[in-house]
Amino acid sequence: MLTVNNVNLHYGAAQALRGVSLTAEMGKITCVLGRNGVGKSSLLRAVTGQHAISAGTISFQNETLNGLPPYARAKHGIGYVPQGREIFPLLTVQENLQSGYAPLARKDKFIPEDIFNLFPVLKSMLGRRGGDLSGGQQQQLAIGRAMVTRPKILVLDEPTEGIQPSIIKDIGRAIRYLRDSTGMAILLVEQYLDFCRELADQVYIMDRGEIVHEGPAETLDTAEARRHLTV
Ligand SMILES: Nc1ncnc2c1ncn2[C@@H]1O[C@H](COP(=O)(O)OP(=O)(O)OP(=O)(O)O)[C@@H](O)[C@H]1O
Ligand SMILES: [Mg+2]
Repeated sequence: MLTVNNVNLHYGAAQALRGVSLTAEMGKITCVLGRNGVGKSSLLRAVTGQHAISAGTISFQNETLNGLPPYARAKHGIGYVPQGREIFPLLTVQENLQSGYAPLARKDKFIPEDIFNLFPVLKSMLGRRGGDLSGGQQQQLAIGRAMVTRPKILVLDEPTEGIQPSIIKDIGRAIRYLRDSTGMAILLVEQYLDFCRELADQVYIMDRGEIVHEGPAETLDTAEARRHLTV
């Protein structure tokens, strides 16, 4: 499992994470809810190594990740679906998927078929440029690209942001499939409460750089969660 213990993160003098602790267990969907600017992406940048932390420890399967660069964390099995998707617009869908080969051993450099089972649209668009896809298709591509790296934990930053409802359903189905079929851990950052409640096993709520609630999804107090999500 992933363990984040007492982590601080700064941008210059501004502190974005304050003593954040959380765990994401294998075979579970752990959801972090919070409104704009509370530090959700900063938490994922800390986990994936995109931004250095200033205090605390982050470990995955009992190995500490502190100080490791992003590519080393990808090799450790951390897959990342960034906010805004970050598809390479001029590369084809196939090339975008192949960009996930970077941390893999030679024998693993192929695109797993379950990506196309989950997102058939990607198969029919392999030769299209990433930038020509709709937002929803790009989101599916971003998840597919992360799946190519064979993650043990998949970290997703607001995958429903700006996506139409039918594709949100497909994404929810894919996330559930990944948890159930491969037993991977999922760490999902969201503002969309209903999506989170339907999927999550464990829920955290963040406010102003801190965790303000933690508990199983079944016992989540929806009214309290909504209070934290509205300004
Ligand atoms: N590169 C940066 N430099 C300086 N401040 C930053 C930087 N990135 C984020 N911040 C600040 O850190 C705080 C947390 O930002 P973060 O992006 O983690 O929030 P978030 O919860 O992901 O928000 P959103 O829901 O809008 O994506 C905000 O106050 C933000 O302005
Ligand atoms: Mg964010």
